[in-house]
Amino acid sequence: MATLALQQAAADALEQSFALPTYRIDTKTSAPDKFVNLTTTDWSQVTWKDIGRPFEVTNYSSERRQWEEEHHEAMPVQTQWEFFNRHFHDLFITDNLEARAKARQELFKAMGRLNFAEAVEAFTDLIQLAIWNRIHRVEDAVWDPRGKRALFEGMDVKKPNILFLGAADGYEAMQLLAMYPGGHAVLVDYDDFCRTDRFGKFPESYPFLGQDPSTGHYKTYHRADMDIDFDVADIRDLKYGKEFDIVISVGLIEHFPDEHKPHAIEFHRRFLKPGGYAIVTTPRLQFQSKLYYRIMGELVNFGYRELMTAHQMGLYLYENGFNILRCGVIKAHNGIIAQPR
Ligand SMILES: C[S@@+](CC[C@H](N)C(=O)[O-])C[C@H]1O[C@@H](n2cnc3c(N)ncnc32)[C@H](O)[C@@H]1O
Repeated sequence: MATLALQQAAADALEQSFALPTYRIDTKTSAPDKFVNLTTTDWSQVTWKDIGRPFEVTNYSSERRQWEEEHHEAMPVQTQWEFFNRHFHDLFITDNLEARAKARQELFKAMGRLNFAEAVEAFTDLIQLAIWNRIHRVEDAVWDPRGKRALFEGMDVKKPNILFLGAADGYEAMQLLAMYPGGHAVLVDYDDFCRTDRFGKFPESYPFLGQDPSTGHYKTYHRADMDIDFDVADIRDLKYGKEFDIVISVGLIEHFPDEHKPHAIEFHRRFLKPGGYAIVTTPRLQFQSKLYYRIMGELVNFGYRELMTAHQMGLYLYENGFNILRCGVIKAHNGIIAQPR
């Protein structure tokens, strides 16, 4: 108990950045601000001819092919996400140091036995674990609390009602609720595993740095402090009215090919109150991301996926009736805050 209390106190302290076996705690408030601001773009002058189209990631997991052979049909999109969420969650909850030590042992054992197939398997595990370690525990590029805080700051909302489309673990809604306390969030995901595990078992002691409204000072919040509902539903079936101050998606619209993008973007407008904000992020088109999806494809690539630039994402939103208030890049994602025109 005493150890738990100490761990909690350490995690809650301000200006901390340290890695636990599964993730990094980061409550630093100081520079560098990880949001690279590209807001000054005149969107009416940007054309697809100038900026090109997104890059499509086309290496898929062998599990998808196996599933399709067994079921004699194409893997439905929802099933693709069910596979993705289980593998992704495994990465989040694996003790990376222990798992890498085990993979190294397996590799040496397999080499000792001259078992080439097992050696390749252990080596692949080791590489995937090392990449995940680098991205999540060292660089903190998946949750990226400093980048997200820098992207989310400055919105004119108090106690916001937040709708998170394709919420998965709900991380960004929790970060928003810490920065704009006293609000409420609805997380929407059609994979029930996200409700039970990805969000349901999100580390309770993880500190979200936000503001204490009574003092204006920094304060850390936890999942249990927040008013959050989880709606296991298809985004396309939602019946909400225009009742949300913020509608957010993180890594959603790049999974819709161009002919479906207007529809996907429309869901960010449909449930917004007048004056509300849409927040959209997508993975960046950069060398590191291409390498990540190449090496981790077996675990995370089950369906259509694009990598794009901030300008490409901005043009999709602008063309579909949004004014871009903020546009830029954080560690692994492009980020935009927009309002319907
Ligand atoms: C790529 S994930 C978003 C990335 C996320 N930040 C994460 O950590 O996994 C997209 C999520 O949207 C959900 N999703 C995709 N299409 C959906 C739909 N039509 N309705 C509801 N949820 C959907 C998936 O189940 C998945 O959990």
